[in-house]
Amino acid sequence: ALFDIGMVGLSVMGRSLALNMADHGFRVAGYNRSREVTEQVMREHPHENLTPFYSLQELVAALRRPRRIMLMIQAGSPVDAVIGQLEPLLEEGDIILDGGNSFFEDTRRRQAALEKKGIVYFGVGVSGGEEGARHGPSIMPGGDEQAYPLVRPVLEAVAARAAGEPCCAYIGPDGAGHYVKMVHNGIEYADMQLIAESYLLLRHVGGFSNRELADVFARWNEGELRSFLVGITAGVFRERDDLAEGELIDRIVDSAAQKGTGRWASIEALRQGVDLSMITAACNARILSNRLEERAAAAKLLPGPEPARAGDREAFAEQVREGLYAAKIAAYAQGFALLRDASGRYGWDLRLGEIASIFRAGCIIQAAFLDDITAAYRRDPGLENLMLDEFFRARVADNQRSLRAAAGAGIASGLPLPAMTAAVSYLDAFRGAHVGANLIQAQRDWFGAHTFLRTDREGSFHHEWGKGL
Ligand code: 6PG
Repeated sequence: ALFDIGMVGLSVMGRSLALNMADHGFRVAGYNRSREVTEQVMREHPHENLTPFYSLQELVAALRRPRRIMLMIQAGSPVDAVIGQLEPLLEEGDIILDGGNSFFEDTRRRQAALEKKGIVYFGVGVSGGEEGARHGPSIMPGGDEQAYPLVRPVLEAVAARAAGEPCCAYIGPDGAGHYVKMVHNGIEYADMQLIAESYLLLRHVGGFSNRELADVFARWNEGELRSFLVGITAGVFRERDDLAEGELIDRIVDSAAQKGTGRWASIEALRQGVDLSMITAACNARILSNRLEERAAAAKLLPGPEPARAGDREAFAEQVREGLYAAKIAAYAQGFALLRDASGRYGWDLRLGEIASIFRAGCIIQAAFLDDITAAYRRDPGLENLMLDEFFRARVADNQRSLRAAAGAGIASGLPLPAMTAAVSYLDAFRGAHVGANLIQAQRDWFGAHTFLRTDREGSFHHEWGKGL
């Protein structure tokens, strides 16, 4: 029998995606570098459409042409190593898809190198964790558009569905798919950080118990904040500890790791000259969270205010909810502004509305909110910034008082709210408030004769500063 697709890498994500493909009637040839992993998958997840292979030669020989081989392996040098092993086995027109979290510049390089040899290469963003991969992830394929019809049926079949449409769309050439996944992850960081800051406010200023927090987030999950992340947050607060008394959340160390995709987004944003302050704030929050010993030592040396308790807890919770919603708009506005810039810079012609639409289900940032973003880009595909769309403009106008009040309460109470406060500053700078850059110009001209622009005359000017003193 000839197989429809090969899956290289059978740990959690590869195995789940392979089984998902098998469920949809594709005959999948599975391979893992270590034989034990393959055997374990076959033992624990037997499927009539999934067949194990124990060498890449045999796997390649068993695939129908053009061959389609998906890699679900650790990003970085392992991807280059496997491509190196596959290359001599493949023929012109065969297709490799990399479904890992690869850095988009690596994908561009690999795509260009393989194209010269007649091999088609797709960098495919896949989001949704194990559950998504198994039952429907959000999929962001980037590569040669001409060859896309050859991989489209299998990708669309396994993808999540939103309003009946598959959460999978051709993104653009070379690294576009992995770039979009990188920005998705950056937004994921900001979303998680904003929810964590809301938790700090509700707990320390609002005085909510874990049980009450579970109810608050569950309620939020029924309104405009409905999302996968808010939903699991409600679940987290409800979870009992099975090793000790009380809820598990209170026994978890206050320190969070990161594998790097969010940080890449921040670095690219600085390189491109796009303000991604909220995602950067989320990265920094994780970095500082890791300095547990330093924080413990400094806690004894650097005093701060005691949290001031909110008078009306319910009203305060509503303020936090509205503030979170406004801040979320700013975070997505930044993420999509980065995509817009990349689209022009790399000539990718990204369709932002379509990207929003495939985030509606399957992925980690899936949310009701993405219906509104999709609608905004359908109204105006060239929209410069999400906050300028009529719907979001009105929502920002309605909620910004709450954002300021919630962030202000946190600051006064000594709570670190890096993402929420970044949202306020981004909003104010973006809406044209005086940002003080006239003074920066003057300073640059004073110490370096960098010249300055005037409000009342054309041209650039230099002034002999300080001579009149
Ligand atoms: C997804 C996720 C996933 C990511 C994890 C961990 O879309 O399914 O983004 O790809 O690897 O969320 O990311 P960090 O370790 O960087 O937090």
